[in-house]
Amino acid sequence: MRRLPPVLLEDGCPRELISLIRTVLAACKEISFRVGQGALSGVLGSTLDENIQGETQKKLDVLTNQLLKDILLESGYVKAIASEEEDFTVAGNPDAKYIVAFDPLDGSSNTDINSLVGTIFSIMAAPDGADPADPSIFMQPGKNQVAAGYVLYGPSTVLALTTGKGTRFFTLDKTHGTFLLTEDFAKVPEDTSEFAINASNQRHWQPAMQNYINDLIAGDTGPRGRNFNMRWIAAMVGDVHRVLCRGGIFTYPTDTKDPNKPNKLRLLYEANPMAMLIEQAGGIASTGTERIMDIQPDAIHQRVAVILGSKNEVETCLNYHK
Ligand code: F6P
Ligand code: MN
Repeated sequence: MRRLPPVLLEDGCPRELISLIRTVLAACKEISFRVGQGALSGVLGSTLDENIQGETQKKLDVLTNQLLKDILLESGYVKAIASEEEDFTVAGNPDAKYIVAFDPLDGSSNTDINSLVGTIFSIMAAPDGADPADPSIFMQPGKNQVAAGYVLYGPSTVLALTTGKGTRFFTLDKTHGTFLLTEDFAKVPEDTSEFAINASNQRHWQPAMQNYINDLIAGDTGPRGRNFNMRWIAAMVGDVHRVLCRGGIFTYPTDTKDPNKPNKLRLLYEANPMAMLIEQAGGIASTGTERIMDIQPDAIHQRVAVILGSKNEVETCLNYHK
């Protein structure tokens, strides 16, 4: 089985970018180890703090954020970072080429129940001569990403990675600490009979999503004429991994539950990297009205509606939104 660096070199991936990706992965290996230790390492449970988005921080949110931040900033490969757990962007090496946005531990409410969690990351080039302390360097649409990925800490630790040449899976060999290529070109099947949505929000959705999901649930007695299955892991990283592996539609749509928070998922470090992985595997990622990777961000913690997955099913869903 092949290691990551030669695979990326063969693609023509710049050496500095490979070094940066390896730096992110060095942190993820340590996170994989700590998450795997569970209750033994005393890191389960919550802190008394909230992040800037008003969410209670888990001890592991804080620890994984610190690990990624320290390792990335020490490496010299990164001009600035933006994290779900940091109020503001953090400046790095002014001479570095790349910026990294990350969700250090997606699905962290799953930590206490020993269920799926993961790290999501997005890499872009910084504009030439940009000031590393200027947060506007992150205000670039997702189509500018030069690499995106996640590391899923499940029964095995799996990296999904794209540098714009398809989406690949690497599995962490925990004996030797090496990510090895286990799937060269992941392809999301175009059709699916599986959907993922937090159905408890149904009464708060907009009419288009209400109608679409009603028609799926009606199964073979409804307009779709066949039955659909539902799955919800409550960690985007777990749900997107399932979609990449066997197809499906995953959505966290706009809702009216909290008028101050019509959308849940974050553009920079959740929606954009997942959109790139899905598109590179032949799927679609939209908000319902536009391609996620075309959105011009205006704030680092900006949130968007997400509908992604199998091409034909996402298109069907988007037709309800027209
Ligand atoms: O990071 C936000 C997130 O935890 C996603 O990973 C996940 O898909 C979603 O929120 C879960 O939302 P809910 O709490 O509504 O199930
Ligand atoms: Mn998250």
